[in-house]
Amino acid sequence: MLSTWLTEKLGLQVPIVGAPMGGRAGGKLAGEVSRAGGIGMLGAARYATPDWIAAEAAVARALGGKVGIGLMTWALDDDDTLLGAALEQRPELLSLSFGDPAPYVDRAHAAGAIVCSQVNTLEDLRVVEAAGVDLIVAQGHEAGGHTGHIGTLPLLQEILESTKLPVVAAGGIANGRGLAAVLAAGAVGGWVGTALLASPETIGPDYARDALIQARGAETVYTSVFDQARSQPWPERWGGRALANDYTERWHGAGASTDELAAAYDPTDPNVGVVYAGQVAGLVNASEPAGDIVRRMGSEAEALLRRWG
Ligand SMILES: Cc1cc2nc3c(=O)[nH]c(=O)nc-3n(C[C@H](O)[C@H](O)[C@H](O)COP(=O)(O)O)c2cc1C
Repeated sequence: MLSTWLTEKLGLQVPIVGAPMGGRAGGKLAGEVSRAGGIGMLGAARYATPDWIAAEAAVARALGGKVGIGLMTWALDDDDTLLGAALEQRPELLSLSFGDPAPYVDRAHAAGAIVCSQVNTLEDLRVVEAAGVDLIVAQGHEAGGHTGHIGTLPLLQEILESTKLPVVAAGGIANGRGLAAVLAAGAVGGWVGTALLASPETIGPDYARDALIQARGAETVYTSVFDQARSQPWPERWGGRALANDYTERWHGAGASTDELAAAYDPTDPNVGVVYAGQVAGLVNASEPAGDIVRRMGSEAEALLRRWG
């Protein structure tokens, strides 16, 4: 068994966090990741409700015992209702990502959560360290969903050199090779999103699973057009990585107004609706149960790392 700070603190068999993914990671996915020995997280999107969080956390706990919850920090700054709703569920792990978590960390600790934040730069690291988080997540540009501009490997090395806190790597980890690589570099675990996204336990439209299975690694785009089209007020510095489709071909980089983008957007059209996914899209070739993916990733990583003894 691979033993790290993460596995010891959270009582895991596999050093894998099932990434919080708004609109895609609910209780079933999180629960299956935890049941397989990792810890799965619910992705509470900005439009999630307290009832959704309570219901999905109950599903995850019933399946896997443990649950993590991921919130968008910038979205709490106007209204922190979702933080209260998340903490009521007593999550073992709480992610406060994309923004300064300082106003919220004490409350999360008082509720018993280990608090982590995804960071995209060294400056972000300093902000979340000062806020008192327990665990850093170095999230690279190749990640699916919203992310920064530095690739996982350069960022991970820089962050590991610059902090005494434990660090998990996110972005581009899809099999045992990816997990072994970041563990060998000094990370305490892998934070895995895209690799789980074709699993039957995900939520969201069927076309999202199908499109991911078809997509190659080169077929993603880092863009803000979907945020503009859907009136998601993400701070400008974070674009989102999604599968390229007819919509991005037409509108990404076209300089269109928000009204034009919104008028052209149709989430029911499989060639237009957003499918956030990372550059490991090319490694996802079938719809497999999330638990199988987590167990295989853990055992493959262990076998690879043993070779170096
Ligand atoms: C569909 C999707 C939705 C996401 N939503 C969130 C979110 O709500 N909160 C968050 O902190 N990160 C979110 N992320 C980022 C993931 O937490 C994670 O950093 C990323 O998936 C890791 O890279 P990978 O996709 O290459 O595994 C999302 C990613 C994807 C693919």
